[in-house]
Amino acid sequence: MLNDIQQILFSKEQIAERIKELGKTLSEDYAGKDPIFVCILKGSSLFFADLVREITVPINFDFMSISSYGDEFISTGQVKLLKDLDTPIENRHVVIVEDIVDTGTTLSYLIKNLEARAPASIKICTLLDKECRRKTDITPDYCGFKVGDHFVVGYGLDFENGYRHLPFVGVLKPEAYSK
Ligand code: PRP
Repeated sequence: MLNDIQQILFSKEQIAERIKELGKTLSEDYAGKDPIFVCILKGSSLFFADLVREITVPINFDFMSISSYGDEFISTGQVKLLKDLDTPIENRHVVIVEDIVDTGTTLSYLIKNLEARAPASIKICTLLDKECRRKTDITPDYCGFKVGDHFVVGYGLDFENGYRHLPFVGVLKPEAYSK
């Protein structure tokens, strides 16, 4: 498993440090707003769990499952809503928490879907922003790290549903995904 990793891009310690900073900023920005933080399964699960524990003001959270990749290497462009929110979001401030924004296809779909429910605001918080691959006009409001066009896995990010449990974000060796 570790032999499949070419390079560690962000260590466990670097991720924890950056999440502390994001938590502080979000706590300031959302003080008194009673926001709903939305975890987009499955990739953002670890980021979400660590991020919400750095938030010092009252929040609610909820989960959505949306898939555009399936087990495909490249995005199919087809977005599927697998699990919806349990909570109504009308007049609420919503923060979407993602592990990575790549083409932006998933978030474009999601924002359109959530905007139709008349929330007070929608912001995006992502751990990673792979800006060089963007095909939509999505810009994250809060971002942990920018990444280049690498195949990244770990800390929630997968290849064929594996590698998600790695405590760091690393680059997968081409041999591992071109077998
Ligand atoms: C990944 C990731 C984002 C999306 C980003 O999800 O978690 O939701 O792809 O890609 P995009 O910007 O090109 O749309 P995926 O569909 O792989 O599901 P997962 O989170 O369960 O791994």
